[in-house]
Amino acid sequence: MKKIIVAGSINMDLVVRCHEIPKIGETVPGKEFLTIPGGKGANQAVAIAKLGGDCTFLGKVGKDIFGQKVLASMKESQIKIEKIKEEDCSTGVAIINVDDKGKNNIIYIEGANGKIDGPYIDSVKEVLGGASILVMQNEIPQDAINYLLKLAREKNVKTLLNPAPAREIPEEVISLIDIIVPNEYELERITGVQTQTEEGIKKAAKNLFDLGIKIIIVTLGERGVFLKTDKVEKFFTAYKAEVVDTTAAGDSFIGGFCNKFVENSDLDEAINYGQKTAAIAIGRLGAQTSIPSKEEVENFKIGGWYGTYFKDE
Ligand code: RIB
Repeated sequence: MKKIIVAGSINMDLVVRCHEIPKIGETVPGKEFLTIPGGKGANQAVAIAKLGGDCTFLGKVGKDIFGQKVLASMKESQIKIEKIKEEDCSTGVAIINVDDKGKNNIIYIEGANGKIDGPYIDSVKEVLGGASILVMQNEIPQDAINYLLKLAREKNVKTLLNPAPAREIPEEVISLIDIIVPNEYELERITGVQTQTEEGIKKAAKNLFDLGIKIIIVTLGERGVFLKTDKVEKFFTAYKAEVVDTTAAGDSFIGGFCNKFVENSDLDEAINYGQKTAAIAIGRLGAQTSIPSKEEVENFKIGGWYGTYFKDE
């Protein structure tokens, strides 16, 4: 089986469900409060492992109860967690408000994720040997991402960056990214090109392509996915599904995508698999709690088992 490495964040999500997310200065009654294992890195790893992938995680948690709980969730999903280090600080935390339409906003406090540094990476870097792909997100320090990108290139390991939350990508590492997976807002923040229209999305993706990234995949929520390579530029229609909570939709997409991509590098197949994974996840509450198993994704039928999924084609 192909080895997948995820280097990223581990958070405990403090989730508040409410009818409407309050505006600045407003107080509203909430419906429910939950603590749910999350973190973009950990969510993507859970998706990869639940879908049957061989996934090793590089990252850090604090010596606290949240750290223990998220590690337990990751272990249960069969992620190899032996390289994760504990630090004398708090585990990363995300405060998430989810409204009745399943839309959310998130404040993220990095905690132990911010302590991923060169010495730690040096202590675990041998796991990159023989890996197919290294998957990262922006919830860990930029220096750590830069260093990992360089190591991956040296070891001939493909790299995927999910630039969430969005921030500038340093020029010296941009061409070390093989696959980038932003959503439309992140793409706009990174390139400065407006992405409300299809033309805008294409233009912004071309900017990244011209800087040396070979595969650009833009997740567009209910508008689907856009793919740009040297050979194709195309939009994929979204599966329509009932939305309970969109938290970790992008993470589920990336997990599904990676699992298929490492099998045969077929981008269309991998994107479709990622879309199915995300369509199931948005029908459920929470981050790691919403991620489907391999069996669920493979039995996903349009108009089938899991509600009324369909594609306008
Ligand atoms: O992508 C969703 C994740 O973003 C949540 O689980 C939360 O931890 C934040 O990092």
